[in-house]
Amino acid sequence: MTSRDHSRHVSSGHISDDVRRRIDDLLGQMTPAEKAGQLTQYFYFGALKDMPPLDGSDGPSQPEMVHQALKRGEAGALLFVTDPAEVNRLQRMAVEETRLGIPLLFGFDVIHGFRTIFPVPIGLAASWDPDIVETAQSVAAREARAVGIHWTFAPMVDIARDPRWGRMIEGAGEDPYLGSAIARAQVRGFQGDNPADPDRIIAGPKHFAGYGAALGGRDYDEVNLSDSELWNVYLPPFEAAIRAGCRNIMTGYMDLNGIPAAGNAWLFTEVLRKIWGFEGFVVSDANAVRDLATHHFARDIADAGARALNAGVDMEMAIFDPAFHSLPDKLAQGHIAEETLDASVRRVLEAKFRLGLFDNPYVDEGIASATLDEARHREQARIAAERSAVLLRNDNSTLPLNRESIGKLAVIGPFADDTREIVGPWTFNDDAGETITILQGIQDKVGADVEVLHAPGIRRAHRRFPSMFDTFAGSVPDQQPDFDDAAEFDRAIDIARSADIAIVTVGEWQNMIGENASRSSLELPGRQLELLEAIVETGTPVVLLVLNGRPVDLRWAAEHVPAILDIWYPGTQGGAAVANLLFGEVSPAGRLPFSWPRSVGQVPMIHSHTTSHQPEKQDQRYWDEASTPLFPFGFGLSYSSFDYTDLKAEPTAIAVGESLTITVTVTNTGTLPVDEVVQLYIHQRYGTASRPVRELKGFQRVTLEAGASATLTFTLGPDELRYWNAGIRDWTIDSSTFDVWVGGSSEATLATTFEITES
Ligand code: NOJ
Repeated sequence: MTSRDHSRHVSSGHISDDVRRRIDDLLGQMTPAEKAGQLTQYFYFGALKDMPPLDGSDGPSQPEMVHQALKRGEAGALLFVTDPAEVNRLQRMAVEETRLGIPLLFGFDVIHGFRTIFPVPIGLAASWDPDIVETAQSVAAREARAVGIHWTFAPMVDIARDPRWGRMIEGAGEDPYLGSAIARAQVRGFQGDNPADPDRIIAGPKHFAGYGAALGGRDYDEVNLSDSELWNVYLPPFEAAIRAGCRNIMTGYMDLNGIPAAGNAWLFTEVLRKIWGFEGFVVSDANAVRDLATHHFARDIADAGARALNAGVDMEMAIFDPAFHSLPDKLAQGHIAEETLDASVRRVLEAKFRLGLFDNPYVDEGIASATLDEARHREQARIAAERSAVLLRNDNSTLPLNRESIGKLAVIGPFADDTREIVGPWTFNDDAGETITILQGIQDKVGADVEVLHAPGIRRAHRRFPSMFDTFAGSVPDQQPDFDDAAEFDRAIDIARSADIAIVTVGEWQNMIGENASRSSLELPGRQLELLEAIVETGTPVVLLVLNGRPVDLRWAAEHVPAILDIWYPGTQGGAAVANLLFGEVSPAGRLPFSWPRSVGQVPMIHSHTTSHQPEKQDQRYWDEASTPLFPFGFGLSYSSFDYTDLKAEPTAIAVGESLTITVTVTNTGTLPVDEVVQLYIHQRYGTASRPVRELKGFQRVTLEAGASATLTFTLGPDELRYWNAGIRDWTIDSSTFDVWVGGSSEATLATTFEITES
């Protein structure tokens, strides 16, 4: 079956005739400069206050340039303002001091929490729990809206298959099915039923499209994706987010198949609007419109503005003098059409009407602190951190720890007692005073009867090239001049030797991961491995806690450390969550959202590769190292064990276009109540294209009492069975025999088959 019918559109939300008339009326009054201004979003934050104009002139500072644009009625949106009084001050300039009084939109990177920080997005995805992901982003939306933010530049739904790319931390990993489910959950969390509700904000999935496939994992570098990869892997999470109703989309920075993403008419006009029916507005990434000239695509900055608008970018996010400033000239010269300009302004004004800003543009400054203080937000953050952790190794049931049998506990490593590292990147408004470190969480849990000793062991490692975030924050990480390396190292080993258990934290410092944080290696930075080896050498049993947003090289640890728990950057309540996991109050049930490579030489590495010549030697593609992952996609251990039985396809044969159900029974065979993530994979044995060895097509996270069973049902219908066939450049469902596996990881063994016959 093939189908050119792409019209599986989203309901667009409702714009009343009255609002339409008001927008027409405004459009009728606006000058070209006001229209261009309405399509401009300016950065506005303290770190820019001393920044001189980009062109080297002695013109106004960046914030002053924004003030002037605001007063002329030539700014549509701001970003990075997070103080409600400041929001209102700037909003008053737009509403009360301009000719047309059009309110501003305030956007911000609310990525994994605002004040209450949740696990980083890759950690949230590792929960395989769309409900907790939705809850997390609903708390983030509530806190952000309380300070006056209307719109988040999230979720990042870029598929990431090369962990050298630091932004893997912001997404849901390698898989389009999991990525789509997590994308939907985040959009629902941010927007709810209506982004105008007082505790919701507009979601802006990003970066459309393909940004995660940067050449060599080097952030911003070009992306070359095949037709099949684009449609089958990189675009589905965007389509899922749009179907979930997101009102905004952000462009990428990079070239996609030779065309800069922010000037790519095929992406915006053809795919986004025509095929998917997206009716929200498109914003460029920061400075990405000017970048069209940097890319040597546009002739100059003015040409860049015209080309971005013509390609379908509605709003320019600008740090400096915007390229959209030239739109009035470009209109006069006939390089852009009035209808194109008006269509973009209309989309931006619609967003403002939908948010209710024309009725009430201001934020209630009195409610912010009470909302930010709500205890239940912290409670949800703790639950999310518990649900995101992935147990990678647990020899001899090292975990959970038994408080009664421990007299002395060593908590070691540079991340163990740090409020900045534990929350991870993209956090600007958290309160360090309420953040629970790992050391504190453990101390609170074990009480006075257990002696808890702590040593960082090593100093922090540094990037060879500084992080732009450290520069923005105005605080380059401390060089720790008083840190005595030899003495601290020895002290850490001494306390490990004297303890019954050593809990060791390793990972990447938070400024080593995220935007502009690509790496050429996956090794633990600094002296971490040396420290770990020396601690293991003492003979004290070690529990390793990994803080990461991408896989790091754990080959040595996977052989020598009995227990490894991946806790990501778990957020504000990270320490409390980790303590609950270590002492068995909850069992880890997170699963890897990516294949964990052994070494950087293996990347990119994915579970859903196709079958090729000599598949029996799939594990021997390199002569010097196994070509299998260290830990497979979907993997994670539990404090319990499970049995899978009674896997059935019903019916066992369907016609093209029909659906079938798969049922399976899963039993908790251990003695603790725990969660299990039940995963369903399929493989098409033959057809009109080669299909992956396994593709994830269903999952459910279930809670099972000790000894309890659950029978779960999955539906496989046209959405799960179709794929984009590059041979015919269309979606297809092949008649074929399909294998199905259901189990606790991508290596599930319980299998059955079904057939699809020609309809
Ligand atoms: C650049 C990043 O690529 C994007 O993800 C972010 O939302 C903007 N900066 C705004 O901070």
